[in-house]
Amino acid sequence: MKTIKVDSSITRKDIQIGVFGLGFVGLTTALGFAEQGFIVKGYDVDAARLKTIAAGTLPFLEPGLDEALKRHLKNRFLSAESAVEAARESDVLFFCVGTPCGDQGRADLTYLLAALDSTLPVLRDGRFRTLVVKSTVPPGTTESKVIPHLREKGFYDGEGFAVANNPEFLREGKCWEDFMHPDRIVCGTQNKQAAALLQAIYAPFAAPVHIVSLNTGEFIKYLSNTLLASLISYSNEMAVIANAIGDIDTGQAFRILHEDKRLRGSGIASYIFPGCGYGGYCLPKDTQAMAEQAKVHGVEPRLLSDVIAINNDMPAYFVEKVVSSTPTDKCIGILGLSFKPDSDDVRDSPAAHLIRQLLQAGYTHLYAYDPVANVSFDALYGWPQVRYCNDREEVCRKSDVILVATAWSEFKELPLVFPDKHWIDCRYFLHYDHE
Ligand SMILES: NC(=O)c1ccc[n+]([C@@H]2O[C@H](COP(=O)([O-])OP(=O)(O)OC[C@H]3O[C@@H](n4cnc5c(N)ncnc54)[C@H](O)[C@@H]3O)[C@@H](O)[C@H]2O)c1
Repeated sequence: MKTIKVDSSITRKDIQIGVFGLGFVGLTTALGFAEQGFIVKGYDVDAARLKTIAAGTLPFLEPGLDEALKRHLKNRFLSAESAVEAARESDVLFFCVGTPCGDQGRADLTYLLAALDSTLPVLRDGRFRTLVVKSTVPPGTTESKVIPHLREKGFYDGEGFAVANNPEFLREGKCWEDFMHPDRIVCGTQNKQAAALLQAIYAPFAAPVHIVSLNTGEFIKYLSNTLLASLISYSNEMAVIANAIGDIDTGQAFRILHEDKRLRGSGIASYIFPGCGYGGYCLPKDTQAMAEQAKVHGVEPRLLSDVIAINNDMPAYFVEKVVSSTPTDKCIGILGLSFKPDSDDVRDSPAAHLIRQLLQAGYTHLYAYDPVANVSFDALYGWPQVRYCNDREEVCRKSDVILVATAWSEFKELPLVFPDKHWIDCRYFLHYDHE
């Protein structure tokens, strides 16, 4: 295994940090380093988001992060008015901008390259800086896209600055806990000074810090996300088979599977459970991007292609249960809009795929409710046919058929309260009276 020696003379004292992009990953990173005693300057190109944060309010729901913002704002965490201001006095610059699904499913690097460009004006001022790609980018990106991009602009990696990557493994809903208590830290770099800086700032986190090659760093993140996606698609395929055989309590079968001592007590078990497909900001785009990256390198990703195909088929599988039983003039309820409980993130949420397909099938009387995501869902999708309800009971009262798209625990007992409704449990977790 190739490892590089780091300069142990670098200490934490005086290292300053800049963070570009203050979303789930960026704001958590900024506040996490502030919590460890660093001065952190954060910048986001979205002026409204920056203003919200500067006023001490979180722009999204994330337990623990609100208190951290209150503790550190205007103290060790400062919001910067411009990218240059954030970069000027920073030694380590974390780029945490979005890398959405782009052309042909490849990672769209537009935001990342723009964020890097915005810091170039300070890059020749004599201060050594490490530019760290924390956004998720396919293996090979730093080496073959980021460094050449900077070189084209006349900035050479190793001459006054270094480029590294440092993928983030946090989970939404647990951003703070995961960032403050990581399992491992992965830093891709071949530059000793950059490696020493990263080792120094991550030392307080009490987790192994792995300094690896640029491509290895990026690859480890995709190993993680594609494994999780594969487990979910495996579970969904098995559930479809079980349902076709019949007389199988699919949810119960998976819960008994989890009692296996190799799974028991392990967080991984929650990914070995069926539903209506993986969603959210990471697994769909990252699995797709990895499959496309394999093809770019001449490898046909057979397993990943099936993982993606199974996932894409899941909304239609549940919508077919509506179509085969219910005329289009009936009212359909959707309980849960966020991609998972305890989050208001609705990006690529399975509920959105279900609703899109219900609309395509001709259903126009749709009632929806989510404990926290009604507003963010409407803002992102804006379907006029969807009427948002004030509570779960209103959806149940108004609908003939109810699909449960997110496993919020407050939905679990509803079939007992509304037993005459046609329930479609897309999450295999509802409690029915089996008498
Ligand atoms: N959300 C997660 O659970 C998670 C976990 C691990 C890794 N990641 C990865 O981290 C990256 C960020 O994800 P996120 O969920 O935090 O995204 P996000 O959409 O919540 O935040 C990205 C932020 O970057 C800002 N931005 C865009 N261009 C900018 C620029 N030029 N300068 C400054 N700010 C800019 C946006 O305005 C936005 O606020 C992605 O690559 C994602 O795949 C996300």
